[in-house]
Amino acid sequence: MREITERAFAKLNLSLDVVSRLPDGYHELRMVMQSVTLCDEITITLREDGVVRTASDLRYLPSDDRNIAVRAAKAFFAKMELPGLGADIAITKRIPVCSGMGGGSSDGAAVLRALNKLLDCGLSLGELEKMGADLGSDIPFCVGGGTALAGGRGEILTDVTALPPCHIVICKPAFSISTPELFGKIDSRNQGYRPDTLGMLCCLEERDLKGAARRMYNVFEDVLPQKPDDVPKIKSLLLGFGALGAAMTGTGSAVFGIFDSAEKAASAKSELDTRYAEVFSAQPVKKIEI
Ligand code: C5P
Repeated sequence: MREITERAFAKLNLSLDVVSRLPDGYHELRMVMQSVTLCDEITITLREDGVVRTASDLRYLPSDDRNIAVRAAKAFFAKMELPGLGADIAITKRIPVCSGMGGGSSDGAAVLRALNKLLDCGLSLGELEKMGADLGSDIPFCVGGGTALAGGRGEILTDVTALPPCHIVICKPAFSISTPELFGKIDSRNQGYRPDTLGMLCCLEERDLKGAARRMYNVFEDVLPQKPDDVPKIKSLLLGFGALGAAMTGTGSAVFGIFDSAEKAASAKSELDTRYAEVFSAQPVKKIEI
């Protein structure tokens, strides 16, 4: 087998709390993460000449080491001591770039899973997560996905009860937000709301979709740039159409709402489609087994 195709699922933060600033400038986080059906597609073709490169249907994405998929493949070959191997990585992008949905991280994680299968290396999810932690904070979660509590920089993962079946509408406004800039703003925030992470975990355990959705909160929403104000507007619209809860994901700018009714979700999506170019329907994805 010389070629393999793997799906790279988007992630959403059902909740996101910044606990503290670490001495190295990174932050200790506490997040409830969920992977969803919106996905990129990665096709890897092995090469025998040690060259690793990507090509994407989004022309402006870098094809060299600046692309996390390339770094992931190189890290995999180095770790498995396979210096002669290379790869062509074709990426079909559907997850909006710089949206807080972990698109790049998910591509990197999919590369690790795909190479593990293609080369029959037999690494466990835990071993792939560990490999991914050096490449980016969201990669360990994206390796297995599902529903998980993430701590540390995002790499300390605990599986939690899966989010009950539901309908999710995601909207990415036209602007993007700089992740390091938003982390900087969190540092100078005096005090603010904190998500009820424990309450959300209890609701998940009780399969209480409404309770979990009502506890969705992302502390970065407190420090968003004043303009444009699309994030609160999209949240209001989603809630107005009957979402059980709505929040921004990661450092934005995508916003999502959770619905228990396909009809309400479809109505919300139709309305958002008239105002925004990037609106998606999705469902939760269960943890990947390897
Ligand atoms: O690890 P990753 O490259 O995804 O992080 C991107 C940026 O997000 C970092 O440079 C840092 O500014 C910020 N970050 C952080 N604390 C984390 C994760 C990310 O401060 N736990």
